[in-house]
Amino acid sequence: MQTQLQRLWNDGNERWQFFRQWLRHPISTAAISPSGVRLVRAMVAEIPPEAQRVIELGAGTGVMTRAILERDIAPQDLLVFELNPELARYLEDVFPQVRIRCADARDLAAEAAASGFAEGGLADAVISSLGLLSMPRSLQKDILAASFQCLNPGGRFIQFTYGPTCPVPRDILDELGLHAVRGQTVLRNVPPATVFVFSRSRSRAIVPRSIR
Ligand SMILES: C[S@@+](CC[C@H](N)C(=O)[O-])C[C@H]1O[C@@H](n2cnc3c(N)ncnc32)[C@H](O)[C@@H]1O
Repeated sequence: MQTQLQRLWNDGNERWQFFRQWLRHPISTAAISPSGVRLVRAMVAEIPPEAQRVIELGAGTGVMTRAILERDIAPQDLLVFELNPELARYLEDVFPQVRIRCADARDLAAEAAASGFAEGGLADAVISSLGLLSMPRSLQKDILAASFQCLNPGGRFIQFTYGPTCPVPRDILDELGLHAVRGQTVLRNVPPATVFVFSRSRSRAIVPRSIR
């Protein structure tokens, strides 16, 4: 069991790792420190209770990864993407039983097949910490399309954003046949963030009644 001192040491180490990467790659890293515990909880709470297989996009130093595993997702049922090679190596050290792909989330479907993850079936949820807001539209669209290719029909794409509104424009949602539901806003995060959940829809891109 981890002592309080070990936990503080690990936490400080993760923050330092993350900050160094932000100095080097500010746009793709998209935040100066890892997500806070409240935001992590709000994201993981959106994973359906019956979910067994999860894909994580943009794992950074692994704060969401740890919470997904604590949510009883088995390591072999989790597939993690991290584009930054230093962070991907760090994740491999910390989570040796989890499939970590140092790859672009855009290539999710091909990577899920190449890693053997796809053999176990479709995923129930995608947890994404990617900076969708600062991505070009074509990349946003490719990432969402690839994610829904790997999700079962009732699967959810769970995303947080630092902006005040849905990070994906309505026309892209329409084109992909998705709808977005606003989740929890976490003010005690640096910076404050809001969770959005995307799912397949039959008719409308945004479900206004559900947006709180
Ligand atoms: C805002 S950080 C989130 C890190 C961590 N999940 C957290 O919540 O603290 C976004 C992460 O996504 C990674 N990333 C950015 N673009 C990516 C892409 N196209 N594919 C995979 N990872 C990407 C960055 O390297 C960075 O580690």
